[in-house]
Amino acid sequence: MRWHAEEIGQALAPLVPGITVEVLPSVDSTNTELMRRARAGRSEPVLLVAQEQTAGRGRLGRGWASAPGDSLTFSLGLPLAPEDWSGLSLAVGVAVAEALGPRVRVKWPNDLWLDDRKLAGILIETAAWAAGEPQASRYAVIGIGINIREPTPGAYSTPPAWLGELLPGIDVPEALARIAQPLAGSVKAFEAFGFAPFHVRFDARDLLRDRTVHLSDGRSGTAHGTTETGGLLVHTAAGMATVTSSEVSVRPAP
Ligand code: BTN
Repeated sequence: MRWHAEEIGQALAPLVPGITVEVLPSVDSTNTELMRRARAGRSEPVLLVAQEQTAGRGRLGRGWASAPGDSLTFSLGLPLAPEDWSGLSLAVGVAVAEALGPRVRVKWPNDLWLDDRKLAGILIETAAWAAGEPQASRYAVIGIGINIREPTPGAYSTPPAWLGELLPGIDVPEALARIAQPLAGSVKAFEAFGFAPFHVRFDARDLLRDRTVHLSDGRSGTAHGTTETGGLLVHTAAGMATVTSSEVSVRPAP
């Protein structure tokens, strides 16, 4: 498989100086690997791609299963020092959705959906930085998994979509080449300006807007977009609530 690693590295270098692009044939999880490296004091910027993950992880302790060739699995790791971290997953979601096409929607707080099915998931983790660095700065690991070909049938909490439905014939390296630069650009823009420049762009792709949603803490209501910092506004029986906890999962009513 040809990964265009050199071209991608050249495209990313002006945005993230010193970044390298690394492709591993197999790893437990690209997020786990970069978090391990960060904890061992390695905090250089890297785009780490796995042809196969043996223990892919999703949010809320879930797994992320993928078969080689059917799925793009990678993580962008870099030191980041935004004033406020809230809304980063939405900025990432908007960037990737825009790079993939107008039909791709962002489901708060960190999924991409196509035609009411899940196309991709985002898992962001951060590691504390080595001593001596500014406190605001952390090592951010932004992991993304995208179905490229039809996933093998299985027990999915949400029915899957795949990118080939939207871009017939696209393969895994092409998908990476398409999103790497917009992703890095948006992460750097988020670092400088926060969620503000992404607010309107998120609104245009908000899967949940005006839909009935059920929160995992038992509340339900109608989604009304986000606050300035990316919190989800939900009109519940008790009034307007802002959902900020990434530990709350949100489901649209069918
Ligand atoms: C989710 O939908 O809950 C998030 C899924 C994130 C999956 C990606 S695949 C690359 C990176 N490595 C992981 O182990 N997880 C993320």
